[in-house]
This record gives sequence, structure tokens and C-alpha cells, in this order.
Amino acid sequence: MKHYFIKTFGCQMNVYDSERIAGILQNLGYREAAAPKDADLIIFNTCHIREKAAEKVFSDLGRINLIKEERRQQGLDTVIGVVGCVVQAEDEQIAKRAPFVDFATGPLTYHRIPEILAKIGRQKGAPVIDTDFPAESKFDYLPQNDNRSSCAFLAVQEGCNNFCTYCVVPYTRGAEYSRPVKEVVAEARQLVQNGALEINLLGQNVNSYHGEDTAGKERPLSYLLRELARIDGLQRLRYTTSYPADMTDDLIECHHDLDKLMPYLHLPVQSGSDRILKAMNRRHTSADYLRVVEKLHKANPAIGMSSDFIVGFPGETDEDFRATLDVVNRVKYIQAFSFKYSRRAGTPAALLKNQVEEKVKKERLDILQDLLFSYQLKFNKSSIGKVMPVLFESKGRGRSQLFGRTPYMQNLHAELDKNFLNKIVNIKITEAATNSLIGVVEG
Ligand code: 5AD
Ligand code: SF4
Repeated sequence: MKHYFIKTFGCQMNVYDSERIAGILQNLGYREAAAPKDADLIIFNTCHIREKAAEKVFSDLGRINLIKEERRQQGLDTVIGVVGCVVQAEDEQIAKRAPFVDFATGPLTYHRIPEILAKIGRQKGAPVIDTDFPAESKFDYLPQNDNRSSCAFLAVQEGCNNFCTYCVVPYTRGAEYSRPVKEVVAEARQLVQNGALEINLLGQNVNSYHGEDTAGKERPLSYLLRELARIDGLQRLRYTTSYPADMTDDLIECHHDLDKLMPYLHLPVQSGSDRILKAMNRRHTSADYLRVVEKLHKANPAIGMSSDFIVGFPGETDEDFRATLDVVNRVKYIQAFSFKYSRRAGTPAALLKNQVEEKVKKERLDILQDLLFSYQLKFNKSSIGKVMPVLFESKGRGRSQLFGRTPYMQNLHAELDKNFLNKIVNIKITEAATNSLIGVVEG
């Protein structure tokens, strides 16, 4: 029996893609290996969003080649594949910098892995590289999603037409595509049948979802959420990542109407300066953004916000940066992700002359993160003494510990018997730090 090992870099969409690739391989008779050294097929699912992410792929590939060599000395063949966004952007670099790679395929063509593997079997030597933007949807060719997690991802939309000037996604994941409503509902039902209590709908720009219903009519994300909320047994719904200008009133209403929709929303603002937002080609001002947040709070006063931030975009002044801090002080995010601007070849912002010095980027990131963490800690501390339903999705660090999440996506560890795994349990929060909570079963 052959074994595979998949290493996933980057975002939740990559985690989902890796699960689907695992499904393809299991259909071909492969089983999962515990470690790369035990695998006949090693796949890297890669991320290109920032330079650091992409460089990590190349350095880790070097290590995998050593394993391939060791296995060769034991008389074992190893196929190495690279999939995901680095392939779409840097296929020539892969062939040059990692010539030991046997195949490479972009994020839209991994359904072709069975054919690719057959090709490798026939033509040893040059790597098989597939970076098509195919006419067909890969989702039509993937086997049923047999993921058995209690907390599942479901890709409903892929690609992006926004072309923020710093971002590679429109080039790596291509133009926006929305899966038909029926297909999404069928996959959700399957996941729930397999034990999912929570489903997180994924898309690079998930709230611009416009999938067709059976009559061929385009339906928005709000329609899809309402359809999915009707599935018996499904307890929690989330969606990520959203674009502020696409937060329509019908979608905001869902946060009032649907009990299953969790009171947490990741809505990246990127910057608080209108001048920088314009240079980023974002279709919102900071006032537009704050208006959306206010509407969300009206729809559900309990909602907690999360965001992505970029500091040191070309031309960003101290004043622009202060405007970002101002947005943070207004929204009081309960969680956030912040990055130094990374210059990505092929994007318009990479050509701008007024790049910000590394030292300044670092100083701003430190200041921003201190502020963000202070709000995150304050929110977590305010949870102490409260009782929250926690979905325990995996084992924790200690032997008798489980890991779960609150409705607000807070990480929570509890000393609990494994019978509580994959259940939603009322937990009283006893301790809180910036990145995690501790709690005990209530009652
Ligand atoms: N540099 C830094 N951060 C970036 N992001 C996207 N592109 C870049 C870049 N070139 C961030 C954005 C986005 C998140 C997924 O990654 O904040 O929302
Ligand atoms: Fe990138 Fe902007 Fe599209 Fe998000 S909305 S994926 S940041 S281009």
C-alpha cells in the first residue's frame, strides 16, 4: 500500500484544498503517512501571499529532497509534488530551484493529480507542470468530500476580481467563481452526515458569492446562509474572508436572523487611511468601513470583529499610520492579523517608488500589534466567569486536555475526558491570556 504526506502552508482555503487532495489520493488507494520519511508521495500545498511564506516553501523543499535521497538509499521511490499558489506564480522558479520536484500544479488544477501521477509513472525525468486556468471547475471532478471533522471548511467561492494593488491572489487563484447553491448544500449535508457541527464557508472574497440556484438564478451569500441554516444537525455557521464593500444589508440581516451564524466576523480593513486605501485600490473609505461595523452591531450587538492590517504600504506616512490606529481604537477588535507590507513581483504596488523602509515597517507593526493585543486581551479577560458553548474539535497539548473554540473563535483548553471530543459543551471560563482561554464544564 502506498502512503502520502501533505504539508499545508498558508490560509484556510489551502487547508480545505489539502483535505480534498487527501480525498483524491485515498480514492487512488493511498493511505496517510505519519511522517514524510514514510511517504511514497509528498505534497507541499503552498502560499504566495508574502515573500516570507513563499521562501519558506523553497527552504522546506530542500529538506524534503534530503528525505527523498535517504529513501532512495533504502531502495524506495519518492514522488514530490508542489501545489497551490507558489506554483501558479513561480512555476519556472520551481523547476530551477527545486529540480527534484516531480510535479507541480496550481490551485485550480489539483483535480488532475490522478492523470499527473500516471504521467510521472510513464515519463520519468522532467517535472510535470500544470498551471492552467482551466475552463472546467475542479469541483466537478473531485470525489465526495469525506472529511469527518466536527469543525469543517467548505469552499463556496474562489478567486478575486478586486485587484488590491499589493495582492497576488487575483493572479494565483484567478477570477471569481461561485459554486452553484445545490452543490454547496449537498456538500454541507455530507459534512453534517459525517459529523460536522460547524461549517466555515470559505472564499477569497466570500461575501461576493453569487452562485446559481437550480433555476439558473444568481443568489447571494445571504441566501446560501439561510439555506444552510436549515440543515438539521448543523449547529454553527461562519464565513470568511469578506470584503467590506460587499457587506450588503441582506447579509448583515443574517447576523440578526440566524442563530446558527456565530457572532464573530473577519472583515479586513487593511488600513485606516483613506489615501492609502485608495492607493491600495480598496473600494471603501474608513468611514464606509465603520458604518458597516455599526450596522453589524445593530443587527447583533454581541458581534466581535476581526481584521487584517498591512503596515508600511508604499507612501504610508506617520499620519496615515495613526489613522489605522484610530480605526483599531474605534472597532476594538477581539482578534486580528497584521503584516508588514511585502513587495510582490507582478503587483502594481511593487512598482511604486515610495517604498517604506524596513525599520519603519517594523516599528509600526510593533505599535499596531501592541494595541491589537491589548484589545484582544481585554476581551478575553472579560470572558472570565462567563459560560460559553465550546466546540471541542481536537485533543489539546496535555494528555487529558481538549482543544475547542468559543463562538468568538477564541482558543480554549480544558481538562476534559475525550468523550467530550466533537461535542459542544457549556464551559465556564476560568483563565484568559492573549491567545487562549482555560475553562471547566459548567454545572
Ligand atoms: N504584503 C503584506 N500583507 C499582504 N496581504 C496580502 N498581500 C500582502 C502583501 N503583499 C495580507 C492582507 C490580506 C491577508 C490575507 O494578507 O492583509 O488580507
Ligand atoms: Fe487580495 Fe484584495 Fe482580493 Fe483580498 S480582496 S484576495 S486582499 S485582491
